[in-house]
Amino acid sequence: MSTQQQPPRSTGAFRTKTVEQSIRDTEEPEHALKKSLSAWDLTVFGVGVIIGTGIFVLTGIAAKENAGPATALSFVAAGIVCALAALCYAEFASTVPVAGSAYTFSYASIGELPAWIIGWDLVLEFALGTAVVAVGWSGYARHLLETNLGWEMPAALSGPDAGGHFDLLAFLLILALTAVLVIGMKLSARITAIVVAIKVTVVLLVIVAGAFFIRADNYTPFIPPAKPQETGSGLMAPLVQVLFGYEPTNFGVMGIFTAASIVFFAFIGFDVVATAAEETKHPQRDMPRGILGSLLICTLLYVAVTLVVTGMQKYTEMSATAPLADAFKAVDQPFFAGAISLGAVVGLITVCMILLLGQTRVFFAMSRDGLLPRFFSVTHPKFRTPHRATIVLGVVIAVIAGFTSLEALAALVNIGTLFAFVIVALGVIVLRNTRPDLHRAFRTPWVPALPIVSILASLWLMLNLPAETWLRFAVWMAIGVVVYYLYGRSHSRLGKVGKEAEF
Ligand code: ALA
Repeated sequence: MSTQQQPPRSTGAFRTKTVEQSIRDTEEPEHALKKSLSAWDLTVFGVGVIIGTGIFVLTGIAAKENAGPATALSFVAAGIVCALAALCYAEFASTVPVAGSAYTFSYASIGELPAWIIGWDLVLEFALGTAVVAVGWSGYARHLLETNLGWEMPAALSGPDAGGHFDLLAFLLILALTAVLVIGMKLSARITAIVVAIKVTVVLLVIVAGAFFIRADNYTPFIPPAKPQETGSGLMAPLVQVLFGYEPTNFGVMGIFTAASIVFFAFIGFDVVATAAEETKHPQRDMPRGILGSLLICTLLYVAVTLVVTGMQKYTEMSATAPLADAFKAVDQPFFAGAISLGAVVGLITVCMILLLGQTRVFFAMSRDGLLPRFFSVTHPKFRTPHRATIVLGVVIAVIAGFTSLEALAALVNIGTLFAFVIVALGVIVLRNTRPDLHRAFRTPWVPALPIVSILASLWLMLNLPAETWLRFAVWMAIGVVVYYLYGRSHSRLGKVGKEAEF
């Protein structure tokens, strides 16, 4: 790290924290997190959160409704978008190894208001992402209870997706995970490692066992011909089709990208690895390894799983709720179907936990900077975790998960995450110009070309999401700007430092 100290730029909403200041803040004892993670822990964390509802549930929906067997290509497209973003995340995470991910990065490069906007956006990504996965988990859990124990959850407590009112299991899962996170990172990492092993085994089982049941004729047509959307008119159509006046269609080449914007959810999580930078022993070396390693492993597994399940079963017959298990049912293999359902139940727990962890860390970083009440950023004297933020957010997300249906939420999570990718790529270019002196353990290749391609690729996927999702996203972000001007702007720690410096 450079020894050269630069004063913070104090220009209102675009004031930036210096990188040195970000790192110094983490060294204040009452706000310090324990540094205990290695590259291996980070990779396990990454795989733990990346493989989840995306591959276990959304693969079926995307194949059935948007892209058929070509969903494998959608995973490749979404994987490329993520790899480009990962190269930008890796440079930032290894340069600014402080909790808060894209939020911290943009605070150090672009300015306070953009940082606030990205933090607010990450709250959406992680909170709703946690809720979506918890609801997905609850569906699998009820399925297992019913088929193995013959015990049926009362309809009213099964959640809106199952025709009920309140999803009790999703609610309880999030409360339990909140307790685990309050107790400490080490415990979480250990549990995660075991669960990740089970989950990866199940995914490999799908690939290896399923390969024996592939029938070549299921791959024809590989890219089903485009056909008009039945229900997808108006706000439900992808924004790109609305903007350019196309008749909204499913399948065809455009369908591959529509499916990519949906299965993108399956990749969410590698950015969470960056949120643990402050808790990593050697962030400069280990962050890029953790991020890129986990992303590569997951991309290979997704493409393989998709090719196998769309080869086992005609895409038109795939299930939209448990496609991996049902593909085995369709070829009369109930044992494998059961094992896969069990793996999904166990595996989705880590996804939920790590998203929740990412959420609390972003909230923690925003509070430490004074943009949210400082009450939340005091760490627990014994556990050294941000217990207040963890408990408050855990309860709120548990309630959201209890009452919410997951489909529209997943699209909202995707748009929020892609927006964060755009800001991070922009931040890499800005920080190269404003702080060329900083030591970068990992340098994004071909700057500015690669970050620019990353921005365009993320925007392309965003444009393939429904117009309705764009509207919801705009409303959420507008609320965020109002909150910043009513609270964050006047309470910002950086703003206060700036004023003292001016006097
Ligand atoms: N990538 C995670 C999942 O698919 C969020 O569940």
